[in-house]
Amino acid sequence: MPALVEQPGYAHERLCALTERVPCRETQASTLLALLGEPGHYSYPSIFIYGHRASGKSHVTESILQELELPHAIVSCVECVSAGLLFEQTLVAFFGPEAPSLLPRSSSLSDFVRIYKQLCAQTPACQTRYIVLDRAERLRDMEANLLPGLLRLQELVDDNVTVILLTEIVWDKFRPNTGCLEPLLLHFPDYSKAELQEILVRDYHPAYSPDLYGSFVSILLGVFYSVCRDLRELKHLAALNFSKFCEPLEREEVKESETHKLWRNIEPHLKKAMQTVYLREVSSVQWEQQQQQMEDREAGTLKGLSAYAHVELPYYSKFLLIAAYLASFNPARTDRRFFLKHHGKIKKTNFLKKHEKTSNHLLGPKPFPLDRLLAIFYSVVDSRVAPTASIFSQISSLVTLQLLTQVGHDDQLDAPKYKCAVALDFIQAVSRTVSFDIVKYLYDFL
Ligand SMILES: Nc1ncnc2c1ncn2[C@@H]1O[C@H](COP(=O)(O)OP(=O)(O)O)[C@@H](O)[C@H]1O
Ligand SMILES: [Mg+2]
Repeated sequence: MPALVEQPGYAHERLCALTERVPCRETQASTLLALLGEPGHYSYPSIFIYGHRASGKSHVTESILQELELPHAIVSCVECVSAGLLFEQTLVAFFGPEAPSLLPRSSSLSDFVRIYKQLCAQTPACQTRYIVLDRAERLRDMEANLLPGLLRLQELVDDNVTVILLTEIVWDKFRPNTGCLEPLLLHFPDYSKAELQEILVRDYHPAYSPDLYGSFVSILLGVFYSVCRDLRELKHLAALNFSKFCEPLEREEVKESETHKLWRNIEPHLKKAMQTVYLREVSSVQWEQQQQQMEDREAGTLKGLSAYAHVELPYYSKFLLIAAYLASFNPARTDRRFFLKHHGKIKKTNFLKKHEKTSNHLLGPKPFPLDRLLAIFYSVVDSRVAPTASIFSQISSLVTLQLLTQVGHDDQLDAPKYKCAVALDFIQAVSRTVSFDIVKYLYDFL
């Protein structure tokens, strides 16, 4: 087989193996390898690789470095709470486990440069060394001199070293405003549907034919492609659902060629998985257990709280939903009593109206305006949050998720009204996750 990734200076078999490892990314791998050049040559001081999540940035970079056995350090900037850790990991990879002991505590970039030079004088590089900084956007939050320093590390340490940054962010948002040595930019585009198919099919199960797995993957993509193009997530979904897909085959009810029957069997299952594709934050095992529990329960009407355990919302969204629930079920005149810290004297008789015998919960949720929602929200959420666009976008996400409903006409842009669309047991479950005792704040339960 000819190697699609070509570059002089490397063994042909290695390049073939590399080509095999990076399907649909041969162009990017070739470009990157051309930038790196031959092993002994100096290459460009820094390379900036960007593209959306799961576009293969880490995969391609690591495959090249591993398959061609180039000296390298791979550092995940998410794991490095301080620059010191980054320096340590780099020194270990290049100069062995003893190397970081030379670094002083809470070392700075200049310490790193000094130690690097010292060690490098003892073991000079005979080929380019590579430092890969994954999730490099985190570097922007570290010391201001770190990123500019790393970009010109080659010059600072006077060694044949190249720094490769991997990130989802474009360089224009990255460049320090003090200026720096510009890296070479390399973009990884998203995978197309056909490419996703080609990559996913490679994971086929040895017990079944590649064709069968191929038709499973195309069903999967048919269902999920419109909402999820993340290769990592798709791989996970494929692994999760394949056994379900094969069940009729195992029971010998259906033959491999009867894809239509297999499709009919798996479709409802995939639709269910779809509802949780982004809300889910549990492992596949937990998810399957929950599916099982839910199936068991569906016969009866019992709806335990654990049925909602798979709904995982951002922190402030939970409080927004709680505030919305309170606004929907408490009479507006009671807000002062519940949410004003120093509400002064409010006559008890005034507060508890005798004639209000019917529970607000029986009447169902009432619509409320946005400002009331926000007033309650700021009072229940302890820390100070500025009213940012993010809060508003979280409100619209809650609407999209159908946890809130917008009432009124579309043209009333200035005064939208909302209703909370979740049940008491659901909101109790949500409140529990943020340690908020919602029952204390509900007029009905006073
Ligand atoms: N071309 C490919 N062939 C096979 N697997 C791939 C390919 N591209 C990405 N992957 C896999 O998809 C997942 C996400 O890729 P990754 O390289 O981590 O994405 P990124 O770093 O761009 O976010 C990884 O598990 C990786 O192994
Ligand atoms: Mg990555």
